[in-house]
Amino acid sequence: MAPDRCWTVLVLVAGLCSSFTYAKLPNIVFIVADDLGFNDVGFNNPDILSPNIDKLASEGVILNQSYVHPLCTPSRSAFLTGLYPWKTGLQHQVIFPLQPVCAPYNVTLLPEVLKEQGYATHIIGKWHLGFCNWNCTPTYRGFDSFFGFYNGQEDYYAHTLGVNALDLWDNEKPDRLDGGIYSAELFAKRAKRIITNHDKSRPLFLYLPFQNVHAPVQVPHRYSNMYAHIQDETRRNFSGMVSAMDEAIGNITTALKEAGLYDNTLIAFTSDNGGNPNQGGNNFPLRGSKDTIWEGGTRAVAFVHGPMLQKTGYRHNGKFHAVDWFQTFLAVAGASPAANKSMDSMNLWPMLELGKDSARTEFVYHLDNKLPPLQGHAAIRVGDYKYIKGFPGPFSGWAVPPKFQQSRKYLNLDDDRDSLDVFHKYMRKSKTLPEYFEHALFNIRDDPTEQKNLVHTMPQVVQDMKMKLELAQQEMVPANAPPGDNKGNPNNFGGVWTPGWC
Ligand SMILES: *[C@@H]1O[C@H](CO)[C@@H](O)[C@H](O)[C@H]1NC(C)=O
Ligand SMILES: *[C@@H]1O[C@H](CO)[C@@H](O)[C@H](O)[C@H]1NC(C)=O
Ligand SMILES: *[C@@H]1O[C@H](CO)[C@@H](O)[C@H](O)[C@H]1NC(C)=O
Ligand SMILES: *[C@@H]1O[C@H](CO)[C@@H](O)[C@H](O)[C@H]1NC(C)=O
Ligand SMILES: *[C@@H]1O[C@H](CO)[C@@H](O)[C@H](O)[C@H]1NC(C)=O
Repeated sequence: MAPDRCWTVLVLVAGLCSSFTYAKLPNIVFIVADDLGFNDVGFNNPDILSPNIDKLASEGVILNQSYVHPLCTPSRSAFLTGLYPWKTGLQHQVIFPLQPVCAPYNVTLLPEVLKEQGYATHIIGKWHLGFCNWNCTPTYRGFDSFFGFYNGQEDYYAHTLGVNALDLWDNEKPDRLDGGIYSAELFAKRAKRIITNHDKSRPLFLYLPFQNVHAPVQVPHRYSNMYAHIQDETRRNFSGMVSAMDEAIGNITTALKEAGLYDNTLIAFTSDNGGNPNQGGNNFPLRGSKDTIWEGGTRAVAFVHGPMLQKTGYRHNGKFHAVDWFQTFLAVAGASPAANKSMDSMNLWPMLELGKDSARTEFVYHLDNKLPPLQGHAAIRVGDYKYIKGFPGPFSGWAVPPKFQQSRKYLNLDDDRDSLDVFHKYMRKSKTLPEYFEHALFNIRDDPTEQKNLVHTMPQVVQDMKMKLELAQQEMVPANAPPGDNKGNPNNFGGVWTPGWC
């Protein structure tokens, strides 16, 4: 055999082998909804119309105790690094537009590992892990392609933030052609294109962090019209935003079917944090909101769906945490577990695939240091118990929907709902602080809506959990939260939010 022919044969064999191995690996579609509250999805609240999400959830496994951080950047960094955000300096609030900050370069991101496994990797939607340097941006962090925006929020049609500055990117070029198109439609269209053009000899990882349903409350009429019965206009429009995202997810599911990928695809869905009741979101009956460590800020709407799941059609009550997607997806992709010693992520695939008990028995809700002199913003979960230390966040009430407002159960407790206001009154010495500003203990199994503070009845549990929390706090690196730098001003870049200034 001539040497060049031999070489051809070898390449062919290698090609066959690898496509055979790849073909067995499932595709992963990871959908993140922005600021979707516990009460903002059809399978938790029949007033919300989300038939596509509900169908996927009912055919899959609903995660009944899936937790996230209270805000966007911390949760997204946890999803993609498998590390708690206080290990990467991303624990404090979110990355603001002019802050010269991004996820540290020396941390491996999920798409980088999946790429090594042979996956094609694409992100469509909101990044929010920093963009001041090109090396911070998705196509430099393991994604083959990026279509979406860098910042935390923007206009849904104009795709602009601030003084009309554009933040919509098609890989490394600003996209000036899609002004006027609602982002859920734009993202679904791009997802369809990627799915249709996908080379089926390779597995696909599609990360879909939607803009919906984050503020500003904007939605085409045809979706808000579905909710004529809702009196409150913000809530009506917000509900329409959920339905728009739901339709996009329906379209993407159809595209997966048409491309022949659906039967080997794991679809995972989670919100990044709780809803914001001031912007139409709702977490009832859970307490608190986005930006709080109450259950309403941290207990996510989440489910998985796919033919590889052996047991389906139920709610799994095991604990799952934002960091766990990382090792769990690695297991799905046949990758060896990340070897990082400080890895917080756990592989919970046996829980999802087989319905086994969760291997996770404890987790830290969040750690941050905000609002001195009220130090701390921390909570930990061990078994059924949750211990909160320090300021829980700006809203500590229950946003009670109109149809439950007859129930005095929640209204009785509602007088301190605006915790920031309470705090300011306290600073002016016109109010004493409620005890939960210092610390609180709840049994989440018996009291998922956090009404009965047990700090005085269970001092030993408080003692143990406080110690665990302090151990976690010792691992906290200083928050990377510098002031904004005007070098990033879009005026310096032709009116576009652009990398290249740090
Ligand atoms: C990663 O970089 C950060 C600074 O961004 C540094 O503090 C940390 O020690 C580095 N970690 C490793 C393992 O190199
Ligand atoms: C491992 O985790 C630490 C944070 O605890 C981080 O600094 C380091 O860069 C990580 N290494 C990798 C390879 O991700
Ligand atoms: C879903 O697909 C239909 C049919 O192509 C289209 O009319 C609709 O705008 C799409 N919706 C979204 C949210 O992408
Ligand atoms: C709700 O949406 C309509 C357009 O569909 C808009 O005119 C109205 O101002 C919106 N209201 C709120 C409170 O967002
Ligand atoms: C889901 O959680 C709720 C509230 O914590 C609880 O009442 C319910 O029993 C749980 N469902 C299952 C199936 O465990």
